[in-house]
Amino acid sequence: MTGPLVVGVVGAGKISEQYLANMAGYPDLDVRFVADLFPDRARTQADEHGVPEAGSVEDALARDDLELIVNLTIPAAHASVASAALTSGKHVWNEKPIAAEQEDAVALVAQAAAAGLLVGTAPDTFLGPGLQVARSMIERGDIGTPLTASMVFQSAGPHRWHPNPDFLYQRGGGPLFDMGPYYLTALAQMFGPVVRVAALGSSSGPTRTIGEGPRAGESFDVTVPTHISALYEFANGLEAQATFSFDAALERVGILEITGTSATIVPPDPNRFTGDIRLVKAGADEDHVVAAGERPAGRGIGVVDMARTIRGRNAGAGHRANGGLALHVLDAMFATAESMDTGAFVTVDSRFEPVAPLPDGWDPTERTL
Ligand SMILES: NC(=O)c1ccc[n+]([C@@H]2O[C@H](COP(=O)([O-])OP(=O)(O)OC[C@H]3O[C@@H](n4cnc5c(N)ncnc54)[C@H](O)[C@@H]3O)[C@@H](O)[C@H]2O)c1
Repeated sequence: MTGPLVVGVVGAGKISEQYLANMAGYPDLDVRFVADLFPDRARTQADEHGVPEAGSVEDALARDDLELIVNLTIPAAHASVASAALTSGKHVWNEKPIAAEQEDAVALVAQAAAAGLLVGTAPDTFLGPGLQVARSMIERGDIGTPLTASMVFQSAGPHRWHPNPDFLYQRGGGPLFDMGPYYLTALAQMFGPVVRVAALGSSSGPTRTIGEGPRAGESFDVTVPTHISALYEFANGLEAQATFSFDAALERVGILEITGTSATIVPPDPNRFTGDIRLVKAGADEDHVVAAGERPAGRGIGVVDMARTIRGRNAGAGHRANGGLALHVLDAMFATAESMDTGAFVTVDSRFEPVAPLPDGWDPTERTL
């Protein structure tokens, strides 16, 4: 096959806005269909973004022209929608986490491999210039030998602004599974796989009240910890600490600091694609600030990388935001949750293939297929 990869989107909620807007500017992707449990919602998003057709998930999966499904449903539906997409012969890209249950994620990766199809997973922020440049600076020795890392995401929680935030406080969500993937995926690029985790978790209360949108004022149940303090040990002996919280009045988000023997590097927010990178040396008069640059990037660049792999245009690198990486990050998050329950260190057995950096000049807005 040649030409742009033909894509269908399943899940026309909040994040579909960014994906549909971005993918319209990525000529290697041809988005032809939007589906949702609520077909009206799918139609509205399709019309808004110039996508020709919309309908139900069954309609999408029955189409022979769609080659890849971008699955933007809530975490509890990620595995079933993705598995159905694979069964219908289509590649699949899942929003994060890859699945709400470990066994479903393992089954999904195995199903894709058996079918000769690809499964990719957000986040693709680590492919943005911010984290790519930071990674190259670490690899060329700008911080000396890496030692430790510190990650902080703390806010008062997304129930304040999300129109349907229930899933963000239930299994597959919470600050660990909702925000953890950005930080742990970014750090996995720099430190490799996690081998051991210890964590404590707590919650500020059993319900939250929606702040905005048509359901404002409605309360829903919180069923997962909303504050997590965790320690991670990596296979190469490095260590990291993390705070993931929806319980903090003081907002401190996007903090990923990596310290080596000669400096600390502060990349941009791992939930963003670009920004300045700060290199801090003890005793220096001022920090060294590197601009990551304006290379185009946004949610969906991982799908472009996948499309180029599917068409054989990825110079043997393999698609980067792949299911094996997502599975390892999910395992690390489940180990975190288990440690919160047991009070003991929990080992993480899964590993992932190292992910090649993007080549210089890689551009999702370029037509290559
Ligand atoms: N909202 C954000 O800022 C944001 C940012 C990054 C990633 N994400 C991720 O994107 C995903 C979706 O989040 P969202 O905020 O857009 O949620 P949302 O609730 O706004 O939208 C989800 C959509 O999926 C549909 N859906 C649910 N189950 C379905 C099923 N089985 N089949 C078909 N459609 C189904 C819903 O009807 C809804 O329209 C989540 O995995 C989330 O972690 C969200």
